[in-house]
Amino acid sequence: MSRFTFSRRGFLGVAGGVVAAAGVGAGIPWLARPAEIGTQLTSRLPLPQPFTVPLPVPPVATPTGDHYEITQQVATKEILPGVPTEIWGFNGIYPGPTIVSQSGQRTIVRHRNHLPAPTVVHLHGGHTPPLSDGYPTDLVFPAGMAATPAMAQSMGMAPDPRAVLAEGTRDYDYPLRQRATTLWYHDHRMGFTGASVYRGLAGFHLIHDQEELALPLPRGDRDVPIMLADRAFAADGSLVYPAVDPTLLHTPGVTGSAVQGVLGDVILANGAPWPAMEVDAARYRFRFLNASNARRYGLALDPPPPGGAGLIQIGSDGGLLRAPIPHDQIQLSPAERFDVVIDFSRYRVGQQVVLRNLLGTGTTANVMRFHIVRPATDDTHIPARLTEIDTLNPSQATTTRDFSFLSSANGWTINGQAFDPRLINANPTLGDTEIWRFVSDFHHSIHLHLVQFQVLSRDGRAPGPYDAGWKDTVDTLPAQAITVIARFTDYRGRFIYHCHNLEHEDMGMMANFEVG
Ligand code: C2O
Ligand code: CU
Repeated sequence: MSRFTFSRRGFLGVAGGVVAAAGVGAGIPWLARPAEIGTQLTSRLPLPQPFTVPLPVPPVATPTGDHYEITQQVATKEILPGVPTEIWGFNGIYPGPTIVSQSGQRTIVRHRNHLPAPTVVHLHGGHTPPLSDGYPTDLVFPAGMAATPAMAQSMGMAPDPRAVLAEGTRDYDYPLRQRATTLWYHDHRMGFTGASVYRGLAGFHLIHDQEELALPLPRGDRDVPIMLADRAFAADGSLVYPAVDPTLLHTPGVTGSAVQGVLGDVILANGAPWPAMEVDAARYRFRFLNASNARRYGLALDPPPPGGAGLIQIGSDGGLLRAPIPHDQIQLSPAERFDVVIDFSRYRVGQQVVLRNLLGTGTTANVMRFHIVRPATDDTHIPARLTEIDTLNPSQATTTRDFSFLSSANGWTINGQAFDPRLINANPTLGDTEIWRFVSDFHHSIHLHLVQFQVLSRDGRAPGPYDAGWKDTVDTLPAQAITVIARFTDYRGRFIYHCHNLEHEDMGMMANFEVG
């Protein structure tokens, strides 16, 4: 029995059907707009006091030349103090090691699979040719497991004549001809991405370029990537991931499915629960990544600094903004990145500042805490002009395509169709500029591989406060239509676009485009 037969039966029940039937984009007044969509899990052991664990920073990987080696392995990590938790980690750690590359510097990452299951690694936000992009059926099996189509299908993969299977190891080859920015890498196995990322298969990949390095922005210890994620723990310390599928390992004591999205009650920053960070009274650059399966965050400083607008956004998914944007709050949907400067000299030395999640309640309303421990010299500033960005003009677009992201009797679908590797929904011509229009029933975090796009409009009006700059992932609000514009450059081949609520993705909300 394929996972589809099981998972899409009686899917979601009434709510999804009603919304879909009512017509998306029409603006449904009676439809509540919850901050998230998902199933909230509750941990079954005592949780630590917030702000007691120091913020870890993932180690930077050391290359040999331009080559990196990463081993995917099972490991035990103390996430909650005193509690061992089994994870799946790149090099056995969570987050995985951070890779730091220069723009245009070819980077080859050899991944070894020492896990008990196949994996496939995607560099999220990377401008990557198809064979190294981590297509969801391009599995790397553990050594000793036959890398055959029959094996892949027995493990839940849909038939895919184009799948490139490997055993034990694969070299992912990244040209990285793209701007300085914050990318991340994660497992992307068809149908199992949610479970694998939840277990820990995620890490940062940063790109620098000369233009960015010449800016007087915070650097070194004051340039800190922060991976946000939520998890729930069973009484024995193991991670709770409810079965959304019969072929997933079922966690004892957990029943039910989580087809709407898995939400934990513990907020992790760089793998630590509600951590604390000691900072100088100086500017810091934080690269916030929402690596959660389904949770959205509304980050805000409490208290705000005098004068407010304590979060100065300097970059988005695809690189620096033209000009900084001051925010009181930054909302991140799954997979989005926000490059943000916080100036702690606006606070008193000795003060403690909590980073709140305004979209959370109870334990999920806190993220982490900064403690301003010492005065410091600071020769950085945020230039009024950060970079030049060519605005993609709708008049250059050759095609406009429409995609509906809806729940249906077939599960989570795009244009009514659940993911099938053999179906191509869009055929952009290499070099063309296209407008893609998305309509959604619930919150969906829509992500395109290969390209960075620009947001043109939301419901026919101006883009939202978090849409600036180059984006590869965009938060669509319930019953909203959003248009984006992208140029499909450099690489021909088959790529995917999908919802980055990982449970939606795993349950079918993914499709192919083929650049020809
Ligand atoms: Cu972050 Cu297709 O993925
Ligand atoms: Cu979704």
